[in-house]
Amino acid sequence: MKVAAAQIRPFFAEPQKNRQLLSRYCKKAGQQEIDLLVFPELCVSGYNFTSKKQAEVLAEPIPGGPTTQLWMRLAEQYNMVIIGGLAESKQSSGIYNSAAIVGPNGFIGCYRKIHLFAREKEWFLPGQHPPSVWKLPSVSLGVLVCFDWAFPEVSRILMLEGCEILCLPANLVLPYAQRVMIARSLENRFFTVLANRIGSEGKLTFTGRSQITNTQGDILIKGAKNRTGLFSAVINPAKAQNKFLTNTNHIIQDRRVDLYQRLLHE
Ligand code: ACM
Repeated sequence: MKVAAAQIRPFFAEPQKNRQLLSRYCKKAGQQEIDLLVFPELCVSGYNFTSKKQAEVLAEPIPGGPTTQLWMRLAEQYNMVIIGGLAESKQSSGIYNSAAIVGPNGFIGCYRKIHLFAREKEWFLPGQHPPSVWKLPSVSLGVLVCFDWAFPEVSRILMLEGCEILCLPANLVLPYAQRVMIARSLENRFFTVLANRIGSEGKLTFTGRSQITNTQGDILIKGAKNRTGLFSAVINPAKAQNKFLTNTNHIIQDRRVDLYQRLLHE
């Protein structure tokens, strides 16, 4: 299976231009026979909103909005799974920082970011559902969004639900998540695909260095800090089903859940 992270520089508040950019990346990925393509967080609106109102104006429904509909057409055309971050509007008040997941047969699902970073708390509602694993015929996928990286509990839930590839659309401004993904993949024995953006918006500079890791925490490919590109690796997701860290250590069976009660309380 060929998986890729699209490291792009979105145009702030220019959704049509961004959809054209995303379409070009999907075409390029199609030409390279990529099976799973991950775009960054908020890749159609941009990130650094001046107000909640501005974020709301740039939000769109999932799956009925123009970007998810476009991704559904492109996923069918190029026979791949596409995951990317969008500001998601709902009929009720408030918007979410979400990721849409689509495949060649249509819409698969939506994940709403649980852990909001900094001013995101002014713009978005936090997701109210634990992360899900989407079990497709060829692979089981888990999705988190950016700052969720700082909470190992959600990666662990995905592992226990059978995730083989953790996909992380991101707009990282701190330099930590790439390092953390090495540990997340190693301790959970799954692959990770981190798709980060580059460029600046106001005082924020995004840190690039998109990366793919294997189940041992090795970096298979890494993007540059400030150049766009499509970064891909060929992997065998079934390797994530082997949870033995050594011949005698199994990362699920060796847990001591009888001693972890503290994790479930404030
Ligand atoms: C982030 O969660 N966008 C840093």
